[in-house]
Amino acid sequence: MQTLIKNIKELVQVETGRQKLRTQGQEMAQMETIKDAYLLVEDGKIKAFGQMCEWNEKSEKWKVEKEVDATGRLVFPTFCDSHTHLVYANSREHEFVDKIRGLSYEEIAKRGGGILNSAKATAAASEEELYDMAWQRLEGVMRLGTGAIEIKSGYGLSTESELKLLRVIRRLKENSPLTIKSNFLGAHGIPMEYRGHQEDYVDLVINEMIPRVADEGLADFIDVFCDQGFFTVDDTARILEAGIKHGMRPKIHANEMAISGGVQVGVKYNAISVDHLEQMGDAEIECLKGTDTMPTILPGCAFFLNLPLSPARGMIEAGLPVAMASDYNPGTSPSGNMQLVLSMACIRYRLTPEEALNATTLNTAYAMGVSGELGTIAVGKRANFYITKPIPSYEYMPYAYGENNVDRIFLNGVEI
Ligand code: NIG
Ligand code: FE
Repeated sequence: MQTLIKNIKELVQVETGRQKLRTQGQEMAQMETIKDAYLLVEDGKIKAFGQMCEWNEKSEKWKVEKEVDATGRLVFPTFCDSHTHLVYANSREHEFVDKIRGLSYEEIAKRGGGILNSAKATAAASEEELYDMAWQRLEGVMRLGTGAIEIKSGYGLSTESELKLLRVIRRLKENSPLTIKSNFLGAHGIPMEYRGHQEDYVDLVINEMIPRVADEGLADFIDVFCDQGFFTVDDTARILEAGIKHGMRPKIHANEMAISGGVQVGVKYNAISVDHLEQMGDAEIECLKGTDTMPTILPGCAFFLNLPLSPARGMIEAGLPVAMASDYNPGTSPSGNMQLVLSMACIRYRLTPEEALNATTLNTAYAMGVSGELGTIAVGKRANFYITKPIPSYEYMPYAYGENNVDRIFLNGVEI
């Protein structure tokens, strides 16, 4: 089955030469586009693309069954959102108000709110209820242009509840047209009953949870919230080692509250990404150089919690790659809108539109292990793309913050 998208005003983020798995440093500012373009899809994959005039010469060769006229519109690869906590039971707007009144995120967590508040509601919810809520959220982000997403557990904090969350993610994987990766985050918070002896909770994660998760094949990645007031570098190292033994690649939370040693421990265990990075020093930037670990910034979390901004420009100038994801979760970023992440990348972190697009597509695809098949418009990659509303240019996407400019979405070549 062949589908042709024709008369595209501009086809954005194409790769005509060698396909890259990620982009870093000065390269992040490079992005190829083709004006007045066509895009041909066959059996869910990108078969060909180029200028309309070339298409007109070739058209006899192809057997197109469906044509879409994109006059006045641009086509982009869908966003990859490499960091979310999308399966949760309750919103937390009362804590949002507490924060406005002056409490910090850490203070709320200390008194049993925050992640523990979500864990209580998760324990009370059935798998079916969690699935239905997560499905709605997934539909919502898909309509905003997301085509691939990583989802973490972490609101369970008991073996049964963590397994329940991961089974929900498995069902989402089976039923959704989005590409989904799952991440086991049993070490997200320390349950009240383990306060003062958190090493016993770490033991539970290592000795009971990880083997059960692995037995059921429920997780692609292993995560730890390595930060001040949460899990230590030693806890993190032990958990990552256990996860690796059970076939899960590390992908961790680091340096949200403080320079915690999280970046270093992530790099040591070859994490596919280290995420948050609101607190970064020169040593952290140095430590990431020449590694396979993708530094990932979460603009929605820094915005929502009023945290300092990660030094994205400094990281790029140091030659590093940078990815930006939504962190969709009820406590620190109750939005999975990647169009907004794109805007924040430019407005708050001073990335150029080209850098911001690379940070939210190819580099996030890398951070979830799918950049060989997603993240750009390239021959042989999966046909995941969106057609915009009529807009003047690709720069308009980050510029027009708060507007939804995604009109039609195609995943695996099929319009959804
Ligand atoms: O990525 N920082 C740790 N975990 C989440 C927040 C979890 C919550 O507050 O519910 C995050 O920001
Ligand atoms: Fe997170």
